[in-house]
Amino acid sequence: MKMKRIEITLNGNIMPTRTQIYIGDHMKETFRKIYSSYGKILFLVSRNIKARYDDILSEYTDGSTIRTVEVSDGEDQKNLDAYYSIISTIMENSIERGDAIAYAGGGTLGDVTGFASASYMRGIDLLAFPTTLLAQVDSSIGGKNGVNFHGVKNLIGTFHNPVAVFCDTRFIKRSEQGVVLDSLGELLKYGFIGNPAILGILESHKDIADLINTDLENIIELGIMVKKKFVEADPLDTGERKILNFGHTFGHVIEACSSGRIPHGNAVLLGIMAESEFGQKVFGIKDICSGTVRSFMKNYGIRIRFDYPFKLDEIPAYLNLDKKSAGDSITMSFVDSPGHPVMKNAEKNEASLFLRDWLSNDQWK
Ligand SMILES: NC(=O)c1ccc[n+]([C@@H]2O[C@H](COP(=O)([O-])OP(=O)(O)OC[C@H]3O[C@@H](n4cnc5c(N)ncnc54)[C@H](O)[C@@H]3O)[C@@H](O)[C@H]2O)c1
Repeated sequence: MKMKRIEITLNGNIMPTRTQIYIGDHMKETFRKIYSSYGKILFLVSRNIKARYDDILSEYTDGSTIRTVEVSDGEDQKNLDAYYSIISTIMENSIERGDAIAYAGGGTLGDVTGFASASYMRGIDLLAFPTTLLAQVDSSIGGKNGVNFHGVKNLIGTFHNPVAVFCDTRFIKRSEQGVVLDSLGELLKYGFIGNPAILGILESHKDIADLINTDLENIIELGIMVKKKFVEADPLDTGERKILNFGHTFGHVIEACSSGRIPHGNAVLLGIMAESEFGQKVFGIKDICSGTVRSFMKNYGIRIRFDYPFKLDEIPAYLNLDKKSAGDSITMSFVDSPGHPVMKNAEKNEASLFLRDWLSNDQWK
Protein backbone atom coordinates (compact mmCIF):
# COMPACT_ATOMS: atom_id res chain seq x y z
CA MET A 1 0.00 0.00 0.00
CA LYS A 2 1.26 3.48 -0.86
CA MET A 3 2.08 5.44 2.27
CA LYS A 4 0.34 8.79 2.81
CA ARG A 5 1.96 11.66 4.69
CA ILE A 6 0.33 14.62 6.42
CA GLU A 7 2.29 17.36 8.16
CA ILE A 8 0.88 19.32 11.07
CA THR A 9 2.44 22.61 12.14
CA LEU A 10 1.55 23.96 15.55
CA ASN A 11 2.68 27.43 16.56
CA GLY A 12 2.18 28.65 20.10
CA ASN A 13 5.20 27.41 22.03
CA ILE A 14 4.29 23.74 21.76
CA MET A 15 7.36 21.69 21.06
CA PRO A 16 8.19 20.29 18.65
CA THR A 17 6.38 22.53 16.18
CA ARG A 18 5.97 19.97 13.42
CA THR A 19 4.50 16.49 13.43
CA GLN A 20 4.79 14.13 10.46
CA ILE A 21 1.90 11.70 10.24
CA TYR A 22 2.24 8.58 8.11
CA ILE A 23 -0.67 6.35 7.08
CA GLY A 24 0.12 2.96 5.61
CA ASP A 25 1.70 -0.36 6.56
CA HIS A 26 5.22 -1.80 6.60
CA MET A 27 6.65 1.68 7.34
CA LYS A 28 9.86 0.38 8.87
CA GLU A 29 12.16 2.29 6.51
CA THR A 30 10.51 5.60 7.27
CA PHE A 31 10.65 4.84 10.99
CA ARG A 32 14.31 3.85 10.71
CA LYS A 33 15.25 7.14 9.07
CA ILE A 34 13.64 9.02 11.95
CA TYR A 35 14.86 6.93 14.86
CA SER A 36 18.43 6.75 13.61
CA SER A 37 18.78 10.44 14.48
CA TYR A 38 18.39 9.55 18.17
CA GLY A 39 20.89 7.98 20.54
CA LYS A 40 18.43 5.33 21.68
CA ILE A 41 14.69 4.72 21.70
CA LEU A 42 12.68 3.42 24.62
CA PHE A 43 9.68 1.71 23.02
CA LEU A 44 6.73 1.35 25.40
CA VAL A 45 4.40 -1.31 24.08
CA SER A 46 0.94 -2.16 25.36
CA ARG A 47 0.88 -5.76 26.64
CA ASN A 48 -2.32 -6.33 24.65
CA ILE A 49 -0.69 -5.15 21.47
CA LYS A 50 2.45 -7.20 22.06
CA ALA A 51 0.35 -10.33 22.60
CA ARG A 52 -1.69 -9.84 19.42
CA TYR A 53 0.59 -8.13 16.94
CA ASP A 54 4.11 -9.18 17.81
CA ASP A 55 4.86 -9.77 14.11
CA ILE A 56 3.97 -6.16 13.23
CA LEU A 57 5.72 -4.73 16.27
CA SER A 58 8.94 -6.61 15.74
CA GLU A 59 9.31 -4.93 12.33
CA TYR A 60 9.61 -1.66 14.20
CA THR A 61 11.38 -2.67 17.39
CA ASP A 62 14.29 -4.76 16.13
CA GLY A 63 16.87 -1.93 15.86
CA SER A 64 19.99 -2.28 18.01
CA THR A 65 19.34 1.10 19.68
CA ILE A 66 15.73 0.23 20.53
CA ARG A 67 14.75 -1.13 23.95
CA THR A 68 11.24 -2.47 24.29
CA VAL A 69 9.28 -2.48 27.53
CA GLU A 70 5.75 -3.84 27.94
CA VAL A 71 3.25 -1.70 29.84
CA SER A 72 -0.43 -1.88 30.80
CA ASP A 73 -3.01 0.32 29.12
CA GLY A 74 -6.73 1.07 29.23
CA GLU A 75 -8.75 3.81 30.91
CA ASP A 76 -8.08 2.39 34.40
CA GLN A 77 -4.35 2.79 33.72
CA LYS A 78 -4.60 6.45 32.72
CA ASN A 79 -3.58 7.77 36.10
CA LEU A 80 -0.68 9.13 38.12
CA ASP A 81 0.43 5.63 39.18
CA ALA A 82 0.92 4.64 35.54
CA TYR A 83 2.66 7.95 34.88
CA TYR A 84 4.97 7.32 37.85
CA SER A 85 5.74 3.84 36.63
CA ILE A 86 6.52 5.04 33.09
CA ILE A 87 8.77 7.83 34.35
CA SER A 88 10.59 5.26 36.51
CA THR A 89 11.05 3.02 33.47
CA ILE A 90 12.38 5.92 31.43
CA MET A 91 14.82 6.79 34.20
CA GLU A 92 15.94 3.18 34.70
CA ASN A 93 16.73 3.03 30.99
CA SER A 94 18.94 6.13 31.31
CA ILE A 95 17.02 8.04 28.66
CA GLU A 96 18.60 11.42 27.94
CA ARG A 97 17.60 14.46 25.93
CA GLY A 98 19.15 13.11 22.70
CA ASP A 99 17.05 9.94 22.98
CA ALA A 100 13.36 9.46 22.27
CA ILE A 101 10.38 7.55 23.57
CA ALA A 102 8.04 5.60 21.32
CA TYR A 103 4.77 3.90 22.19
CA ALA A 104 2.43 1.42 20.56
CA GLY A 105 -1.08 1.37 21.98
CA GLY A 106 -4.42 3.11 22.08
CA GLY A 107 -5.31 6.61 23.19
CA THR A 108 -4.90 5.90 26.89
CA LEU A 109 -1.30 4.77 26.57
CA GLY A 110 -0.70 7.67 24.18
CA ASP A 111 -2.04 10.17 26.70
CA VAL A 112 0.08 8.86 29.59
CA THR A 113 3.22 8.40 27.50
CA GLY A 114 2.69 11.82 25.96
CA PHE A 115 2.52 13.35 29.43
CA ALA A 116 5.63 11.44 30.54
CA SER A 117 7.58 12.53 27.45
CA ALA A 118 6.43 16.13 27.93
CA SER A 119 7.59 16.27 31.53
CA TYR A 120 10.65 13.99 31.72
CA MET A 121 13.68 16.30 31.65
CA ARG A 122 11.18 19.04 30.65
CA GLY A 123 10.49 17.36 27.34
CA ILE A 124 11.86 14.52 25.29
CA ASP A 125 10.92 13.54 21.74
CA LEU A 126 7.99 11.20 21.21
CA LEU A 127 7.25 8.81 18.33
CA ALA A 128 3.72 7.41 18.22
CA PHE A 129 2.27 4.13 16.94
CA PRO A 130 -1.44 4.51 17.68
CA THR A 131 -3.21 1.15 17.44
CA THR A 132 -6.91 2.01 17.65
CA LEU A 133 -8.79 3.92 14.97
CA LEU A 134 -9.64 6.53 17.59
CA ALA A 135 -5.98 7.01 18.45
CA GLN A 136 -4.97 7.19 14.77
CA VAL A 137 -7.51 9.84 13.77
CA ASP A 138 -7.71 11.76 16.99
CA SER A 139 -5.81 11.25 20.23
CA SER A 140 -2.30 10.94 18.76
CA ILE A 141 -2.76 14.24 16.87
CA GLY A 142 -2.57 17.74 18.28
CA GLY A 143 -0.32 17.32 21.30
CA LYS A 144 -2.81 17.02 24.17
CA ASN A 145 -1.85 14.45 26.78
CA GLY A 146 -2.61 13.72 30.40
CA VAL A 147 -4.09 11.49 33.06
CA ASN A 148 -7.37 11.23 34.91
CA PHE A 149 -7.41 12.23 38.57
CA HIS A 150 -10.02 11.33 41.22
CA GLY A 151 -12.33 10.13 38.45
CA VAL A 152 -12.07 13.35 36.46
CA LYS A 153 -11.01 12.90 32.85
CA ASN A 154 -7.72 14.46 31.76
CA LEU A 155 -7.48 16.73 34.80
CA ILE A 156 -3.67 16.74 34.77
CA GLY A 157 -1.75 17.10 31.55
CA THR A 158 -0.08 19.37 29.07
CA PHE A 159 0.70 19.86 25.37
CA HIS A 160 3.59 18.10 23.67
CA ASN A 161 3.60 17.10 20.00
CA PRO A 162 4.92 13.80 18.81
CA VAL A 163 7.69 14.16 16.23
CA ALA A 164 6.06 11.47 14.10
CA VAL A 165 2.89 9.41 14.17
CA PHE A 166 2.77 6.07 12.34
CA CYS A 167 -0.80 4.99 11.61
CA ASP A 168 -0.14 1.39 10.63
CA THR A 169 -3.50 0.23 9.34
CA ARG A 170 -2.74 -3.44 10.02
CA PHE A 171 -3.48 -2.78 13.72
CA ILE A 172 -7.00 -1.77 12.74
CA LYS A 173 -7.59 -4.37 10.02
CA ARG A 174 -6.71 -7.21 12.37
CA SER A 175 -8.41 -5.90 15.51
CA GLU A 176 -11.76 -7.04 16.90
CA GLN A 177 -14.74 -5.12 15.62
CA GLY A 178 -15.42 -3.64 19.07
CA VAL A 179 -12.13 -1.75 19.08
CA VAL A 180 -13.05 -0.18 15.74
CA LEU A 181 -16.68 0.43 16.59
CA ASP A 182 -15.66 2.38 19.65
CA SER A 183 -13.68 4.74 17.44
CA LEU A 184 -16.60 5.73 15.26
CA GLY A 185 -17.94 8.36 17.68
CA GLU A 186 -14.96 10.61 17.01
CA LEU A 187 -15.29 10.08 13.25
CA LEU A 188 -18.98 11.00 13.29
CA LYS A 189 -18.01 14.09 15.28
CA TYR A 190 -15.54 15.07 12.54
CA GLY A 191 -18.29 14.57 9.98
CA PHE A 192 -20.64 16.89 11.86
CA ILE A 193 -18.17 19.65 12.75
CA GLY A 194 -15.76 19.56 9.83
CA ASN A 195 -16.36 17.42 6.79
CA PRO A 196 -19.81 16.00 5.97
CA ALA A 197 -18.16 13.66 3.41
CA ILE A 198 -17.12 11.55 6.43
CA LEU A 199 -20.81 11.10 7.33
CA GLY A 200 -21.50 10.03 3.75
CA ILE A 201 -18.73 7.42 3.87
CA LEU A 202 -19.84 6.07 7.25
CA GLU A 203 -23.43 5.84 6.08
CA SER A 204 -22.52 4.18 2.79
CA HIS A 205 -21.22 0.96 4.35
CA LYS A 206 -23.42 -1.87 5.48
CA ASP A 207 -21.18 -2.81 8.40
CA ILE A 208 -17.80 -2.21 9.97
CA ALA A 209 -16.03 -4.93 7.98
CA ASP A 210 -17.19 -3.31 4.75
CA LEU A 211 -15.95 0.10 5.94
CA ILE A 212 -12.53 -1.29 6.88
CA ASN A 213 -12.12 -3.24 3.66
CA THR A 214 -12.87 -0.38 1.33
CA ASP A 215 -12.42 2.97 3.04
CA LEU A 216 -10.08 2.64 6.02
CA GLU A 217 -7.11 4.68 4.74
CA ASN A 218 -9.47 7.21 3.24
CA ILE A 219 -11.40 7.73 6.48
CA ILE A 220 -8.21 7.97 8.55
CA GLU A 221 -6.88 10.67 6.22
CA LEU A 222 -10.14 12.63 6.16
CA GLY A 223 -10.43 12.43 9.95
CA ILE A 224 -6.87 13.62 10.52
CA MET A 225 -7.44 16.52 8.09
CA VAL A 226 -10.37 17.77 10.20
CA LYS A 227 -8.31 17.59 13.37
CA LYS A 228 -5.39 19.30 11.60
CA LYS A 229 -7.59 22.24 10.62
CA PHE A 230 -8.74 22.90 14.19
CA VAL A 231 -5.45 22.31 16.01
CA GLU A 232 -3.39 24.39 13.57
CA ALA A 233 -5.84 27.29 13.94
CA ASP A 234 -5.75 27.14 17.74
CA PRO A 235 -2.94 24.94 19.11
CA LEU A 236 -3.45 25.84 22.76
CA ASP A 237 -7.20 25.31 22.83
CA THR A 238 -8.17 28.87 23.68
CA GLY A 239 -10.79 29.34 20.95
CA GLU A 240 -11.68 27.46 17.80
CA ARG A 241 -10.16 24.15 18.93
CA LYS A 242 -12.86 23.89 21.59
CA ILE A 243 -15.20 22.93 18.73
CA LEU A 244 -13.47 19.55 18.80
CA ASN A 245 -15.15 19.07 22.15
CA PHE A 246 -18.49 18.58 20.44
CA GLY A 247 -20.03 15.55 22.15
CA HIS A 248 -17.33 15.58 24.82
CA THR A 249 -18.78 17.94 27.44
CA PHE A 250 -21.55 15.46 28.18
CA GLY A 251 -19.48 12.55 26.81
CA HIS A 252 -16.74 12.94 29.44
CA VAL A 253 -19.34 13.24 32.21
CA ILE A 254 -21.06 10.07 30.96
CA GLU A 255 -17.73 8.23 30.79
CA ALA A 256 -16.85 9.34 34.33
CA CYS A 257 -20.32 8.57 35.76
CA SER A 258 -19.98 5.04 34.36
CA SER A 259 -16.58 4.74 36.09
CA GLY A 260 -15.05 4.09 32.66
CA ARG A 261 -17.37 1.20 31.77
CA ILE A 262 -18.67 3.12 28.76
CA PRO A 263 -15.63 3.43 26.51
CA HIS A 264 -14.64 6.88 25.31
CA GLY A 265 -15.90 6.63 21.73
CA ASN A 266 -19.30 5.32 22.79
CA ALA A 267 -19.58 8.03 25.45
CA VAL A 268 -18.94 10.53 22.65
CA LEU A 269 -21.83 9.05 20.63
CA LEU A 270 -24.14 9.55 23.60
CA GLY A 271 -22.60 12.98 24.19
CA ILE A 272 -23.32 14.09 20.60
CA MET A 273 -26.96 13.04 20.90
CA ALA A 274 -27.51 14.62 24.31
CA GLU A 275 -25.69 17.86 23.44
CA SER A 276 -27.57 18.25 20.16
CA GLU A 277 -30.89 17.83 21.92
CA PHE A 278 -29.74 20.25 24.63
CA GLY A 279 -28.67 22.81 21.99
CA GLN A 280 -32.08 22.62 20.36
CA LYS A 281 -33.93 22.99 23.64
CA VAL A 282 -31.88 25.83 25.09
CA PHE A 283 -30.50 27.74 22.10
CA GLY A 284 -32.94 26.76 19.37
CA ILE A 285 -30.14 25.19 17.29
CA LYS A 286 -31.82 22.58 15.11
CA ASP A 287 -30.79 19.09 16.22
CA ILE A 288 -29.43 17.59 13.02
CA CYS A 289 -27.25 15.02 14.79
CA SER A 290 -29.10 12.76 17.19
CA GLY A 291 -31.26 11.07 14.51
CA THR A 292 -28.15 10.36 12.42
CA VAL A 293 -26.29 8.95 15.44
CA ARG A 294 -29.25 6.73 16.36
CA SER A 295 -29.58 5.21 12.91
CA PHE A 296 -25.83 4.87 12.64
CA MET A 297 -25.68 2.95 15.96
CA LYS A 298 -28.48 0.71 14.72
CA ASN A 299 -26.81 0.03 11.35
CA TYR A 300 -23.43 -0.74 12.85
CA GLY A 301 -24.93 -2.71 15.76
CA ILE A 302 -23.47 -0.47 18.47
CA ARG A 303 -25.09 -1.29 21.81
CA ILE A 304 -24.15 0.53 25.00
CA ARG A 305 -24.65 -1.38 28.23
CA PHE A 306 -26.04 0.47 31.19
CA ASP A 307 -26.60 -2.37 33.66
CA TYR A 308 -24.37 -1.21 36.52
CA PRO A 309 -24.45 1.58 39.10
CA PHE A 310 -24.30 4.87 37.23
CA LYS A 311 -23.30 7.94 39.26
CA LEU A 312 -26.02 10.37 38.15
CA ASP A 313 -25.54 12.44 41.33
CA GLU A 314 -21.96 13.23 40.30
CA ILE A 315 -22.99 15.00 37.08
CA PRO A 316 -22.71 18.57 38.51
CA ALA A 317 -19.33 17.81 40.10
CA TYR A 318 -17.87 16.38 36.88
CA LEU A 319 -19.27 19.25 34.83
CA ASN A 320 -17.67 21.73 37.28
CA LEU A 321 -14.26 20.19 36.69
CA ASP A 322 -14.53 20.41 32.91
CA LYS A 323 -11.76 22.61 31.51
CA LYS A 324 -14.29 24.66 29.54
CA SER A 325 -16.17 25.58 32.65
CA ALA A 326 -15.97 29.13 34.09
CA GLY A 327 -18.10 30.21 37.03
CA ASP A 328 -21.71 29.27 36.39
CA SER A 329 -21.26 28.67 32.69
CA ILE A 330 -19.57 26.22 30.39
CA THR A 331 -18.54 26.62 26.73
CA MET A 332 -20.18 24.02 24.54
CA SER A 333 -20.10 23.29 20.80
CA PHE A 334 -23.15 22.59 18.67
CA VAL A 335 -23.73 22.03 14.98
CA ASP A 336 -26.41 23.96 13.10
CA SER A 337 -25.83 22.23 9.75
CA PRO A 338 -23.32 19.58 8.69
CA GLY A 339 -19.86 21.15 8.72
CA HIS A 340 -21.02 24.31 10.55
CA PRO A 341 -20.25 24.23 14.26
CA VAL A 342 -21.16 27.02 16.68
CA MET A 343 -20.01 27.68 20.24
CA LYS A 344 -22.27 28.90 23.05
CA ASN A 345 -21.96 29.47 26.76
CA ALA A 346 -24.46 27.27 28.53
CA GLU A 347 -25.65 27.59 32.09
CA LYS A 348 -24.02 24.74 34.02
CA ASN A 349 -26.93 24.00 36.29
CA GLU A 350 -29.28 23.80 33.32
CA ALA A 351 -26.85 21.49 31.50
CA SER A 352 -26.57 19.19 34.55
CA LEU A 353 -30.32 18.92 34.97
CA PHE A 354 -30.81 18.27 31.26
CA LEU A 355 -28.19 15.50 31.19
CA ARG A 356 -29.62 13.86 34.28
CA ASP A 357 -33.09 13.78 32.73
CA TRP A 358 -31.73 12.63 29.39
CA LEU A 359 -29.81 9.73 30.91
CA SER A 360 -32.76 8.73 33.10
CA ASN A 361 -34.96 8.59 30.03
CA ASP A 362 -34.99 5.38 28.01
CA GLN A 363 -35.48 7.16 24.71
CA TRP A 364 -31.84 7.05 23.58
CA LYS A 365 -31.38 3.32 24.24
N1 LIG B 1 -5.19 13.44 23.68
C1 LIG B 1 -6.24 13.63 22.91
O1 LIG B 1 -6.32 14.59 22.12
C2 LIG B 1 -7.39 12.65 22.96
C3 LIG B 1 -8.44 12.71 22.01
C4 LIG B 1 -9.44 11.74 22.04
C5 LIG B 1 -9.41 10.74 23.02
N2 LIG B 1 -8.39 10.73 23.94
C6 LIG B 1 -8.33 9.69 24.96
O2 LIG B 1 -8.13 8.44 24.32
C7 LIG B 1 -8.57 7.41 25.23
C8 LIG B 1 -9.32 6.35 24.45
O3 LIG B 1 -8.40 5.73 23.58
P1 LIG B 1 -8.76 4.35 22.85
O4 LIG B 1 -10.15 4.39 22.37
O5 LIG B 1 -7.67 4.12 21.89
O6 LIG B 1 -8.79 3.30 24.05
P2 LIG B 1 -7.66 2.51 24.89
O7 LIG B 1 -6.32 3.11 24.75
O8 LIG B 1 -8.22 2.38 26.26
O9 LIG B 1 -7.69 1.10 24.20
C9 LIG B 1 -8.84 0.30 24.39
C10 LIG B 1 -8.44 -1.15 24.56
O10 LIG B 1 -8.12 -1.68 23.29
C11 LIG B 1 -6.86 -2.30 23.31
N3 LIG B 1 -6.31 -2.13 21.98
C12 LIG B 1 -5.65 -1.06 21.48
N4 LIG B 1 -5.38 -1.26 20.18
C13 LIG B 1 -5.87 -2.48 19.86
C14 LIG B 1 -5.89 -3.24 18.67
N5 LIG B 1 -5.38 -2.81 17.53
N6 LIG B 1 -6.45 -4.48 18.73
C15 LIG B 1 -6.99 -4.98 19.86
N7 LIG B 1 -7.00 -4.28 21.02
C16 LIG B 1 -6.46 -3.05 21.01
C17 LIG B 1 -6.10 -1.63 24.40
O11 LIG B 1 -5.08 -2.49 24.88
C18 LIG B 1 -7.19 -1.36 25.43
O12 LIG B 1 -7.41 -2.49 26.22
C19 LIG B 1 -9.44 8.08 26.27
O13 LIG B 1 -8.75 8.11 27.50
C20 LIG B 1 -9.61 9.50 25.74
O14 LIG B 1 -9.75 10.45 26.76
C21 LIG B 1 -7.39 11.65 23.92
